Formats: sequence, C-alpha cells, structure tokens
Amino acid sequence: MIKLEGITKRYDDRTLAVDNVSLEIPSNQLTVLIGPSGCGKTTTLKMINRIISPTSGKILIDGRDISTVDAKELRRGIGYVIQNIGLFPHMTVRENIATVPRLLKWEKSRTQLRLDQLLELVGLEPSVFSDKLPRELSGGQAQRVGVARALAADPPIVLMDEPFGAVDPLTRVKLQDEFVRIQKELSKTIVFVTHDIDEAIRLADRIGVMKDGKVLQYDSAEDILASPKNKFVHDFMGSDRALKRLSRRSVNEFMEQSKPLFVSKGWEQLKEVKESFVWAVDEEGKLIGWIHVSDFKEGKHLSEMLTELSDDEMLSAESTVKEALSRMLESGTMALPVIGKEKEFLGQISMYKIQEITRNG
Ligand SMILES: Nc1ncnc2c1ncn2[C@@H]1O[C@H](COP(=O)(O)OP(=O)(O)OP(=O)(O)O)[C@@H](O)[C@H]1O
Ligand SMILES: [Mg+2]
Repeated sequence: MIKLEGITKRYDDRTLAVDNVSLEIPSNQLTVLIGPSGCGKTTTLKMINRIISPTSGKILIDGRDISTVDAKELRRGIGYVIQNIGLFPHMTVRENIATVPRLLKWEKSRTQLRLDQLLELVGLEPSVFSDKLPRELSGGQAQRVGVARALAADPPIVLMDEPFGAVDPLTRVKLQDEFVRIQKELSKTIVFVTHDIDEAIRLADRIGVMKDGKVLQYDSAEDILASPKNKFVHDFMGSDRALKRLSRRSVNEFMEQSKPLFVSKGWEQLKEVKESFVWAVDEEGKLIGWIHVSDFKEGKHLSEMLTELSDDEMLSAESTVKEALSRMLESGTMALPVIGKEKEFLGQISMYKIQEITRNG
C-alpha cells in the first residue's frame, strides 16, 4: 500500500500545487487521480517516486517512509510513464525499454526475452519495432513503448501520467482495453493520472478527484458516480452519470434465466411458455433467434415462426449493461439474449431489469 499522510507541496515561487493530501492507495489495484489542468496530479505522482520532495507530510510504501530510502533504489521498484511520453529520442525502442534492466545489469539474454515479451504485451511486433527510433513511431505506438518501458523490470508499482493522452479517441479505447487485459494479468499497484473521465471510469478501481491541490473525493468509481460529494465532483462526472454507471456493470450480474425452445423439436414445447415470445436454439443449444408465441397455429412447425437474430442482437456475459441498453435502443427490442463463446444460450437481459438497476443503484 502507498500511504500519503498530509502531503503538501509549495514550489519555490510559492505556488501551492498540492494542499494537505492524505490518501491510502491499495496494492494490486488501479487508482486514478483525475482533475482539471493544474490541479496537482503530476506533482502528486512525482512525490511518490521522489522526483519532487514534499514541503511537508510523509509518504509510506508498505509501511516504509520513502524519505529514508535511497532514491535510486526506490525508483527501481517503481515504473514511471512520463506525461508526454518522454522516450529518449536517440535510443531505439529496444534501448528505451531496456533502460532499467541495463541499470540493474541484467544478462543480455534475459533482457532480450523480456523485451520481446513486453512488445508482444503492448501489441507491437518485436521484429518490426525493436530497432525504430521514437521519431519513427506514431503517437500511440510511442505511448505503448512508454508503457512497456515502465513495466520492463517488473516493478510492483507503476505511476502513469496521462499515458494515453496523445492518441486519437479510437486508438485510445483500444489501448485502454489492452491495458485492462494487461492489468488483469499483472495486478500491479498502479497510480494513473488522467483528465478524461471516461478513461477513469473504464480503468479505475478507485478514483481520487482533485481540484486546486486538494482531493475532494476518494472512492470507488461506482460510489463516485452514485453519490458525488459536492457540485464540482457532480459536474465533473457529467450529466450522463447514470449511463456511465451502467458501463461499470456487466450483463453477467443481471442476467435472467429463460428456458429456450429447441426448434427441431415439436410445438408442444410452446404450451409451457408464459411470455409472449421465447428464445429459440438449434439441436446443440446454440441460439438462432426467437419465436412470437401468438404466431402459433396448431400443426405449424416451429422453424416457420422463427425470427432469426443477427450477431449484433446477441450479448456476451462480459458485455456491459450500457452496451446492452444501447443495442436494445438500436434494435427496438425490450430484451436481448446472452450467449457464451460457442453461441450457446445463457439467459437474457431485459429493459425492465435495466430500469431496476438504475432505480436501485
Ligand atoms: N516546477 C514548478 N514550479 C512552480 N510551479 C509549478 C511547477 N510545476 C508545476 N507547477 C504548478 O503547480 C500546479 C500543479 O501542477 P501539476 O503539473 O501538478 O498539475 P497537473 O494536475 O498535472 O496538470 P495537467 O493536467 O495540466 O498536467 C500548477 O499550478 C503548476 O503551474
Ligand atoms: Mg500533469
């Protein structure tokens, strides 16, 4: 755990950048610091790896006061992604990533292996990118190299200052998704700075909202969205807070049971159906569509009543409830089916359920 105890930073010109901040940053989780430009995010981050020393207050990492630890030793255990990337311009991608392993005097073969692993991890083909210079990379690629460099020596803590700031929104979302996957695998203690609220909600376990050097609210993403403490936090979260909250919940949590019909079997199955429609599967249990019960006439084969579904009208258990709602609105239906990897039918989520979620929080 990283513990900030009453941390204040006043720069030499008297600017009060960080004002009596106390935070407990849990291990193996991703904590986001968010707030408008100049609110003290970068300053806070740089005090954790002692690039800047606080004017007053204490920072403890796993109980150890960091002012008593040798700064170089401290930084070896803390990866750092600098705002605006900060790759060394005259070094290749390979040399940039190997900075810390080199300082640690790793064997060549070990460094090489790690390099390849990391490039794969951030989605850059080693044979294509290893020998490029930073100026030969796009902004998004350079940011991935920055992330790989911070992870190189496998530090338990990683500080990231707007690591995806320089990329277009589409690439950004892709990088964020990759990053969520990487973090699931690595479970690092990450302090992540951004001023993009959607990015914060996508990534964060906990969010600290900062303004004028102070942390106004520090809570789980869900709690901040559900009950912002004051008008500033409320406004900062945006007017679509309810939708943003749905983007934090997965369909899995709210899926309803529903017994599908086997289209290959007889119409007698319809007798047990109480709803006005029913999902339909093939003999292997794979979802193929739905059947309107009122279309039924005795003797008619079930396949004649089948309305087939496109892939867009099926959800996976990992889909977010926001995605479910959006697809319902798009297809004009009140419920959508949820399928597994092999298209097997798992259950459904309905508009009523979503209303219930928004009502009850
Ligand atoms: N070296 C410095 N000397 C004096 N003032 C500084 C220095 N570095 C930062 N500041 C001031 O401290 C305040 C906080 O700066 P900081 O870089 O921490 O903000 P930030 O939240 O990271 O902003 P941004 O989102 O723009 O990166 C700002 O008012 C800034 O002008
Ligand atoms: Mg900054």
